Amino acid sequence: MAVVKPHLIRRRTICATHFRDLRNLVRPAGRRTVYMKLVADYCLHDPSLRPTAVWEQERNEHSSPCAMIAAVTEAKRIAAEKAIEYVQDGMIVGVGTGSTVAYFIDALAQIKDKIAGTVSSSENSTAKLRAHGIDVLDLNETGPLSLYVDGADECDPNKCLIKGGGGALTREKIIAEASETYVCIIDPSKRVDVLGKFPLPIEVIPMARSLVTRELTKLGGEPILRDFTTDNGNIILDVHGLQISDPVGLEREINAIPGVVTVGLFARRPADIVIEGSEPIQVW
Ligand code: 5RP
Repeated sequence: MAVVKPHLIRRRTICATHFRDLRNLVRPAGRRTVYMKLVADYCLHDPSLRPTAVWEQERNEHSSPCAMIAAVTEAKRIAAEKAIEYVQDGMIVGVGTGSTVAYFIDALAQIKDKIAGTVSSSENSTAKLRAHGIDVLDLNETGPLSLYVDGADECDPNKCLIKGGGGALTREKIIAEASETYVCIIDPSKRVDVLGKFPLPIEVIPMARSLVTRELTKLGGEPILRDFTTDNGNIILDVHGLQISDPVGLEREINAIPGVVTVGLFARRPADIVIEGSEPIQVW
């Protein structure tokens, strides 16, 4: 039996193949704690996956977490590649952040000579775009954009979204607002009837952490500080336990708390088109 070296699983980013290989070593050896850490690390790599959901799948002998992860990954790729159809010659394309958008960037690289450049929503996406030789421009220089392509953590039937699982919500909201058409690319796990199961991310000025935490608690949520600093040098509070029946009202209310930079509710300016990478693919 191969020995699983702890340093192998200390990495914070584990690709699907690496996860599958390590899992096949760890599980038969009965190393439950190591396995749970492996799942948790994989879920860090992909914020749309929750360790508890993966472990629940594990208890079901008819499906495996690997199968679930592979299906979600495939759905993201399908949605991202479909979004390329909205890119027209000479466009400057707004580009979001996250694992679904990573597939979009890969697809965009194939047609990079056709576009005039991109505006990026995060340092991560900027690095990925530049690695592909795609120009990244300043939104102040480009003016309004025709197209923005980004993912979401949850999407309701009105195309209102929760975003910010990757911590880029402020720049994402700026680009969404500056864009004529927001094409949202999701896997089917993101579709919900009522927003709020995914903890609502809020970017906050560091000195306002306690004040904002108290205000959010009054609204019925349980804010948890994320171990993360945004590209803008701020903190993120993830608010658990909200049932968001009035997304537009809650977005306005939270944005009005002093110290809040942005709430990850995209309701006042929702998505225009949603591409869900299900089988068959759905565009609505
Ligand atoms: C980043 C975001 C992402 O769009 C959201 O977290 C979805 O990410 P993924 O495509 O990895 O599931 O809002 O701030």
